[in-house]
Amino acid sequence: TSVTNEDVTWKTPSNIALVKYWGKRNPQLPKNASISFTLNNCHTITKMTFEKNEEIVATNDFDFDVFFEGEKNEAFKPKISTFFKRIESYCPYLKDYKFKIESENSFPHSSGIASSASGMSAIALCIMSLERSLSVLEMTDDYFFKKASFLARLGSGSACRSVKGELVVWGEHKDINGSSDLFGVEFKDEVHSNFKNYQDTILLVDKGEKQVSSTVGHNLMHGHPFAEQRFSQANENIARIKGILKSGDLDAFVNLVESEALTLHAMMMTSNPYFILMKPNTLKIINKIWEYRKESNSHLCFTLDAGANVHLLFPVSEKETVAKFVEKEMAQYCQNNHYICDVVGKGAQQL
Ligand code: PMV
Repeated sequence: TSVTNEDVTWKTPSNIALVKYWGKRNPQLPKNASISFTLNNCHTITKMTFEKNEEIVATNDFDFDVFFEGEKNEAFKPKISTFFKRIESYCPYLKDYKFKIESENSFPHSSGIASSASGMSAIALCIMSLERSLSVLEMTDDYFFKKASFLARLGSGSACRSVKGELVVWGEHKDINGSSDLFGVEFKDEVHSNFKNYQDTILLVDKGEKQVSSTVGHNLMHGHPFAEQRFSQANENIARIKGILKSGDLDAFVNLVESEALTLHAMMMTSNPYFILMKPNTLKIINKIWEYRKESNSHLCFTLDAGANVHLLFPVSEKETVAKFVEKEMAQYCQNNHYICDVVGKGAQQL
């Protein structure tokens, strides 16, 4: 059956890496394995409408319109066009259709939360729904989600970790069954109940555009004096975190996760050219967390993406106490006192 004038809608989550991906080789393959928590509340909803082109149109370009939060958007078109170009050889039917892509995020526009992971995985899943409807043979779910993650990776590396939940590994690693550089896989090993419903409160320190894009940052790992050490450290940390997730050792978790965050930023500071994405309030927050831990037996810890915002990670058992601490001590360091409470989620969902 061919699809004419049909549509599909996917809701896809953002994710936060515990062991970070920083440094890649062509075509969008990671220099080390990474692992992330899939989020629940921070998500993108994308509706894609497919209209079959009746005649073969001689065009070198893809035929699509983008609407973001209800309004026609030209700004996202080049990025999506580049994405389509990259995946065309895997999706040869793309030029047979005219697409309408309507997207919205659950988090406020330009809140400084990377929307590329949820945004790219949403488009990838919509395209896979089209592919499934075109496919003569029945497509297995395994193939569907693997290829969706594979395509999402070509949009934005970390987007391949935004298809499944609750923990996803991307990058071939000897200790992770089925792991691959080409797509993210669900972490299937044993996970201790300490990590059930793990919380992530995102402190929006800086909602502005990043000064250095992650594309530029990844590229600066070529010829970086500490690159090789970093890639092997990350791979060792994957092995370590596997043990930590199994044993439920929260002290070890805090230590590994915070070290990963600071190492990511240390790589930025020791690149050439060097750069700093943290802001004064990022450091104030980090110091407050360390004080808070010293004064209590809390396992509240932080992690960072490629930006100034701080993700507070903590067990669900601390939900009430941390909520009070955040409101009283942390909100003041956020732009317009803005922060988002999230929790680990289960992955993309077709609506
Ligand atoms: O997916 P990209 O190319 O935007 O890279 C993002 C990398 C980090 O968010 C900094 C780390 C990670 O593993 O998510």
